[in-house]
Amino acid sequence: MNELRAYFAGEIPGINAFLSAEADKFDGLVREVARHVLLSGGKRIRPMLTILFARALGHSKNDMLAIACAIEMLHTATLLHDDVLDQAETRRGRTSAHVAFGVTETILAGDVLLALANKLGADYDIPRLNSLLARGIMATAEGEILELAHTARPTVDRDTYLAIVIGKTARLIETACRCGAALTNRERGVEDMAGAYGLNLGIAFQLVDDALDYTISESEMGKPAGGDLREGKMTLPLILLLESLPDAESRDLLAKLKDKRLTEAEAGRIIVMIREQGLAEKTREAAQAYISEALRELDALPDSPERLVLAQAAEYVLTRRK
Ligand code: IPE
Ligand code: IPE
Ligand code: MG
Ligand code: MG
Repeated sequence: MNELRAYFAGEIPGINAFLSAEADKFDGLVREVARHVLLSGGKRIRPMLTILFARALGHSKNDMLAIACAIEMLHTATLLHDDVLDQAETRRGRTSAHVAFGVTETILAGDVLLALANKLGADYDIPRLNSLLARGIMATAEGEILELAHTARPTVDRDTYLAIVIGKTARLIETACRCGAALTNRERGVEDMAGAYGLNLGIAFQLVDDALDYTISESEMGKPAGGDLREGKMTLPLILLLESLPDAESRDLLAKLKDKRLTEAEAGRIIVMIREQGLAEKTREAAQAYISEALRELDALPDSPERLVLAQAAEYVLTRRK
């Protein structure tokens, strides 16, 4: 994956400089919140996908940074809001913004970032970009709400799980890829190919994230291990465990999750069971199918350094350990 590493290393300083300059245009608390979260070392996968698809499809102008960073701002805004929803105290290895700056302040700063993302997209005068950004924001919020509804009513339901994963994570990654394609004003079929790669990559990305939540330590992940279980999230490793338990035990665990009655000792035992039964690995295997589909979409792209990096990105999503 050397090409991937080199490509990211080449582009990320430009992305970070752009984000930093945009954050500095704000005053007061918005500036502080924006700097706190924008400049704390995200992986920058989404803006990279935008840049990669634009170049892979022959976009020759060097004007992709604004739309790529709009996507990252949109992602960052969803992280601000998500940490409020999940009452998560750490993000990217730092204190979450709502803990550091207050809940209302953080929600509003997130709204400002969403609006700025839209403005950066609109400045291209390519209406398709506006439509894509709006749809990405909508799907993400809808996915988050769907997840919220099912945290209050936990069920062992793989279809709902997939709908949540697509909504809260995969649609925005799809949007990142589509925006790269739309920048070159290609026909819709080409954009759809980029979108299908992104959607499948995004599903796999969240599946792997859900697997990592049960296997990795806080110092590696930048957020606490087993957090999904404690938040009552019905992710695939837990769904697989519930499917393997006798009915009575499964019902009992679901009831405890619903009422948030799970003790630390019980949570610890469930994490151990999931690890011992290899259910995080099974979740990665499920992700593999989506990665294969994403890779197939790339066959339609002409050969280029970017196509190779996009293939390596799919590999990275599947094998990443943090
Ligand atoms: C975190 O996304 C939210 C999920 C969809 C799991 P990333 O893992 O891409 O977060 P950063 O941007 O690298 O911090
Ligand atoms: C990720 O949500 C998707 C969004 C941020 C919209 P999660 O709640 O699953 O991700 P982490 O664990 O906070 O990164
Ligand atoms: Mg969260
Ligand atoms: Mg969440």
